[in-house]
Amino acid sequence: MISFARKPAMYGAASLRVLDLKPRVEDFQSAVVAGLSAAPKAIPPKFFYDKRGSDFFYRICETPEYYVTRTELGMLDDLGAEIAALAGPAASVIEFGCGSAEKIRKLLAALDAPADYVAIDISRDHLLASAEEIAIENPNLNVSAICADFSQAFELPDDFCDGSGRRVAFFPGSTIGNQTPAEAEGFLRHVRSVVGAGGALLIGVDLKKNVDRLNEAYNDAAGETAGFNLNLLHRMRTELGCDVDPERFAHRAFYNVALGRIEMHLASLGAQTVCLDGQDFAFADGETIHTECSYKYEIAEFADLARRAGFGVRKSWTDAERLFSIHFLEA
Ligand code: AVI
Repeated sequence: MISFARKPAMYGAASLRVLDLKPRVEDFQSAVVAGLSAAPKAIPPKFFYDKRGSDFFYRICETPEYYVTRTELGMLDDLGAEIAALAGPAASVIEFGCGSAEKIRKLLAALDAPADYVAIDISRDHLLASAEEIAIENPNLNVSAICADFSQAFELPDDFCDGSGRRVAFFPGSTIGNQTPAEAEGFLRHVRSVVGAGGALLIGVDLKKNVDRLNEAYNDAAGETAGFNLNLLHRMRTELGCDVDPERFAHRAFYNVALGRIEMHLASLGAQTVCLDGQDFAFADGETIHTECSYKYEIAEFADLARRAGFGVRKSWTDAERLFSIHFLEA
């Protein structure tokens, strides 16, 4: 573990502390070999996010079909004062996975004199860049960055959150939906232990809705979601030297009503064999690699999940169209 402080002049009065817990970054090659050897074939969605994949995701958020980001941002604008009243003054905000700077900026601007901001992310470069931006923009905020796998238990140093207000975790974007409900419950329990008694969690969760609307959101006309999904094969070619041809696979995304989730797959166009590190992997025509689940929840379903993890629901909001929900949970 390395802990060090940085205080460049450009931060003004503020400083940025960094705690590097040196998370074990799962090796892409072993995950792909394990995933292609399994039946059915599956590769975890965390491997989508190299630079190219993150650029695709950014463009997905701008498509007319993908309502998630736009809706949540609009809700954060509208709910700022209510959220600030619930969080109280001098809150310590802890963000799990620092995604879009736009969302944390809106939250920090809405809160009543937040004391601390702690960003937690596995990707060190991305984490430092975002935390530095927030530190520069908020010279009176005590900003810290923790490089860690946020789904694993870790201790939050007391002086990272030494404000007089409550600890408020922030987990926007319905990223919780990319975990199975059992994993999500375990993750929420971990967040509960980090915020402690009296703490809270502000979380964005995508809602169950009209199936066509869901299917369109993951099959945008511009093909950004297809590019995002197929980028996994592109990574396998360029980083692992796999001979897979992305043109011989197709993006498939559909809402599985029984399981309440969008499933994304890469479907083989014809029978074929791909070779990785001297090992052959055979595909039947139409056989898929399952690449992502995105679970959708009813308000009451999510409230039950939160309760099982030790949180009570203080307030839940939806947008006017009931596309998306934001919940203020209390430990
Ligand atoms: C990051 N996550 C919440 C997105 C989702 O909607 O599940 C990832 C995504 N996959 C396809 N489009 C967006």
